[in-house]
Amino acid sequence: MAEAYTTAGAKVTAADRGRLWVTLYLAVTGIVLLLMMTLGLLMRLAQSDILTLDPALFYQMMTVHGTGMVGIAALGGMAVMWHFLSAHVRLHGWVLGVNLVLFLAGVVAILAADFLGGFGGGWTFLYPLPATSGAVWPTWAAALHLSGLLVIGVGFLIVCLEIARAIIVGYGGLGRGLGWHVLFANSTENVPPPTVVASTMVVIVTTLALTAGAAILVMSLINIAFPEIQINPLLAKNMTYFFGHVFINATIYMAVTVVYELLPRITGRPWKTNKVFLAAWTLSTTMVLVIYPHHLLMDFAMPTWMMVIGQVLSYVNSFPVLIVTGLGALAILHRSGIRWDLISTLLLISMFGWMAGVIPAVIDATITVNSVMHNTMWVPGHFHFYLLLGLLPMQFAFMIYLARGEDVTPQGGDMTAILYLLFGLGFVGMFLMGGWASVPRRWATHLPEWLIWDQIASVMAVGVIVLATVFVLKFLTRMPRILQEA
Ligand code: HEM
Repeated sequence: MAEAYTTAGAKVTAADRGRLWVTLYLAVTGIVLLLMMTLGLLMRLAQSDILTLDPALFYQMMTVHGTGMVGIAALGGMAVMWHFLSAHVRLHGWVLGVNLVLFLAGVVAILAADFLGGFGGGWTFLYPLPATSGAVWPTWAAALHLSGLLVIGVGFLIVCLEIARAIIVGYGGLGRGLGWHVLFANSTENVPPPTVVASTMVVIVTTLALTAGAAILVMSLINIAFPEIQINPLLAKNMTYFFGHVFINATIYMAVTVVYELLPRITGRPWKTNKVFLAAWTLSTTMVLVIYPHHLLMDFAMPTWMMVIGQVLSYVNSFPVLIVTGLGALAILHRSGIRWDLISTLLLISMFGWMAGVIPAVIDATITVNSVMHNTMWVPGHFHFYLLLGLLPMQFAFMIYLARGEDVTPQGGDMTAILYLLFGLGFVGMFLMGGWASVPRRWATHLPEWLIWDQIASVMAVGVIVLATVFVLKFLTRMPRILQEA
């Protein structure tokens, strides 16, 4: 909608809010999601022994799929957060444009490095694998892939800095964006709404993650150019997993703003900021930064205290925000007389997917379980759970909301969201069952005993892709009208 919003007394038009860019972000998100899902299906078919793929090609596809999905999760999440945040603080829309150009340049570099150069080091690009492939790929391919990641990371960093600037200007500091003046000084002035609290957390943790990621990428590039300059492998692993863990986690904290903004509008009940809500977000802001060592539980050289923090805080990290969001959503929905439709069902599914997807993650963060399960399909099982059924339904709900001209009036019976949930559960369930039976993760070829899970998963993946296509098309077909209004 092209209406003007008022922020701090100034009229802000849809153009100022970056509406054009948000729309383009969503279009890119939708198209890339479908392409990456198709790559995922091809990998699953290869593991099912239904499709023959050269193992080198499998690892290139796995790298493109993993990297592409993480990047697009962030691009779509950022579009959601930016859209809602821009009604509360004054943001400069052109920054989104700069990020999109850098993102697409990085994608071209990564596609060339992986499919032309043969790079297949996984989305985690763990040192020293990129530089020591045993002649599977040339060093230029590794350098191009890492450079592509670096360019994408710089783009997101610029957006985070712009959002941080706007929150500091609008609320007087990042601490105030998190509501510390309310939490610790009982102030009732300029109380940040849930979207501002979530966005503040996102920019703090994502900026730190991107900085660590950029540093290890630059160090790895130097190592590729001058192999005599080596990196401490444990330091490299810490920096890489700190970056990866925090960055992918933050995507769901970006997208959850759609729940905070739309459920109140659908039910007519406000989502108020209170002290419990603020405390939960502050706790998660700190904990999400320190729990990444649960990815390194098998690295005996890690200091014990870090492992203890990694394990213990992994149990509690997700709960504060999950509980205030889940209970907040239930409180808003309870006896609200809501008439369920596609948007509200997707939002409810996203709450379920996020909460349920955390359970297998917490189980895997337990050292005794981790030493058996960590390199099994259990791990893709847990992260596909909360990304496919938690994050993506939030992004689809937002796409449909924009496609309907920001109208949240229920439009009646639509089973597509329920079908998406069922196929999604079947798909991630097969990953988890494979992990339970110790099927290793990241194997291009599977033993005959494992094929049953792979084959059922492939059928389920087809269902997921068909339904995702329906959601994306609902948005893409309305895009010309949305752009006209932008
Ligand atoms: C129809 C949907 C999807 C299918 C069929 C699919 C399939 C796969 C398969 C087969 C793997 C390799 C598993 C292994 O053996 O380790 C994989 C890995 C991965 N997937 Fe998906 N996936 C889908 C959706 C998603 C989504 C929505 C995301 C994130 C938003 C995602 C992110 C990843 C990541 C990060 C990896 C790890 C790559 C690596 O190990 O380097 N996938 N996926």
